[in-house]
Amino acid sequence: MKSREIEKKFIQFFVSRKHLLIPQISLVPENDPTLLFTSAGMVALKSYFLGLEKPPHNRLVNVQRCLRTTDINKVGQNARTLSFFEMLGSWSIGDYFKEGAIKLAWQFLTTHLNFSPENLWVSYFAGDSDYPQVPADKESAKIWQEIGLDSDHIVGLGYQDNFWQSGEIGPCGPSTEVYFDRGESFGCKEKTCRPGCDCDRFLEIWNAGVFMQYNRTSQDQYQPLPFNSVDTGAGLERLAMVLQKKNSVFETDLFIPLTNQINKLASIGSGQEADKQQLINRIADHIRASVFLIADGVVPSNQEQGYILRRLIRRAVDAADRIGLSDLSQLVSVVVVNYQSAYSYLAGQEDKIKQILLTEEGGFRKAIRRGKKKIILMSEEKKTQGKPLSGQEVFYFTQTFGLPPELVKKEFSKQAIVLNKNIDQELLQAQKEHQQKSRSDQKFKGGLADNSDRVVAYHTATHLLHQALRTTLGDHVHQTGSNITSHRLRFDFIHPKALTKEEISKIEKIINEQIKANLPVTYREKTIEEAKKDGALAFFEDRYRQGKIRVYKIGDFSVEVCGGPHLKRTGLMGKFIISKEKSIGSGKRRIYGILEEDQ
Ligand code: ALA
Repeated sequence: MKSREIEKKFIQFFVSRKHLLIPQISLVPENDPTLLFTSAGMVALKSYFLGLEKPPHNRLVNVQRCLRTTDINKVGQNARTLSFFEMLGSWSIGDYFKEGAIKLAWQFLTTHLNFSPENLWVSYFAGDSDYPQVPADKESAKIWQEIGLDSDHIVGLGYQDNFWQSGEIGPCGPSTEVYFDRGESFGCKEKTCRPGCDCDRFLEIWNAGVFMQYNRTSQDQYQPLPFNSVDTGAGLERLAMVLQKKNSVFETDLFIPLTNQINKLASIGSGQEADKQQLINRIADHIRASVFLIADGVVPSNQEQGYILRRLIRRAVDAADRIGLSDLSQLVSVVVVNYQSAYSYLAGQEDKIKQILLTEEGGFRKAIRRGKKKIILMSEEKKTQGKPLSGQEVFYFTQTFGLPPELVKKEFSKQAIVLNKNIDQELLQAQKEHQQKSRSDQKFKGGLADNSDRVVAYHTATHLLHQALRTTLGDHVHQTGSNITSHRLRFDFIHPKALTKEEISKIEKIINEQIKANLPVTYREKTIEEAKKDGALAFFEDRYRQGKIRVYKIGDFSVEVCGGPHLKRTGLMGKFIISKEKSIGSGKRRIYGILEEDQ
């Protein structure tokens, strides 16, 4: 089955079960200071899970381009690790929970992709003594058993394997993951080998449900979310590997044209470089990732996203050198053509991508030459001092010349310099210290705390706007969506015609009066029936169906069902201004609003 067919099946399966197909976001998330890259489909949806914004629907589905760099060193070395990948994701936002999610996963795998249950294993969160705040998820294990999975194939694992979160803070919960058993011959043959083992036997093919129940607000604080949600994700490359019966993701149709081209251009035959295939795979992964990153506007630099791109390109150049391949920009067209049907925007950027790669590769080769000269000079000094090479010195070369640590060590060894025994630990230590320093610099520069306070202020302002619109335009107005950043709010609502200047001024005036009055923001927990009786605005009832909901009151001005965090008083938000108002079609309008901090 071709990869694009797998994608189509997945989307169709969920769409026909009332999930709304939502568009992808960029690899660089727009408004998430906790992340450098979009590392999962849920990144775009965090504020829905937190109850800060209303989603367009309570069941969603999409395919999302993602980038993860934690395991960058493993890329190419095993059958499954990638930096860039495509994630098939489905979500319930306050709708179905564990049972619904597990049943959907089982149905899709066994009846639509025709997996045989004997080859499927699952893991669930069995609790973890290091994380006593979060209880085990026995319920998921029971549900898998009830739908017919052999109980030997249901494995309980700890926090590292079966608790999921993106970034250090934010929505999170226990997960249940599906593994495909590739057979004993692929395994480590240890008695303890089972899902979660690092060998190539059990391949995780689907995180079939992160049960979003908590908001992690600090290292050990897990606060319950206002409602339960489900977040799922399956790597398209891994599903393709299994369904195309290949031995690695690099052998699927998502990679073959590229790995073939690399092989063709390499001037070193197999056998000359023992791990040639691994190097080819590494180049393929890193170049594909670079193409997508550059297309999303990232340029190589020494900071943040640009630094990661630079690292990917430099690691690719290093591997390319070892198999005698010069000029990585020759590979761009192959990626563009192979991804044309799903990512047509790449074609228009092909020249720019080639140019950026060419410049970066050239710059890196120059840096290597300068670095090598410096290594020779330094080696002379070291010889006279009789000192070995330390991890800190390796770090200096990685920072100043951008050389990969392996290359630095190799070049010093060539000069007959001994490597310090603890060189790798020292290098790690130096990297850690550097990271901590840049993190603190980052915080001083502008900051997380600051941004999230503004988001909360904007969220509170949304309640005022909603009520002010109804007061001014009539009770037919209701919210259909919203989006908040730390710089502005966006609010979509039903109204048949453009707002007049007078109406806009009146709405601003009403809102600013409520801000000046410094009204208290309070909430009570109620059932949906009680809330409706009290006249609370609750247009998105589905997700609040079960249990108690929160009804927020802003003085006597607004009463609205909501889950998100709010300011304690309105006086803290600054002056509200409508910066733009426009139509978004079919009787819907969109307002952008800003809060000026100094009144
Ligand atoms: N967000 C979850 C993951 O990436 C589904 O595994």
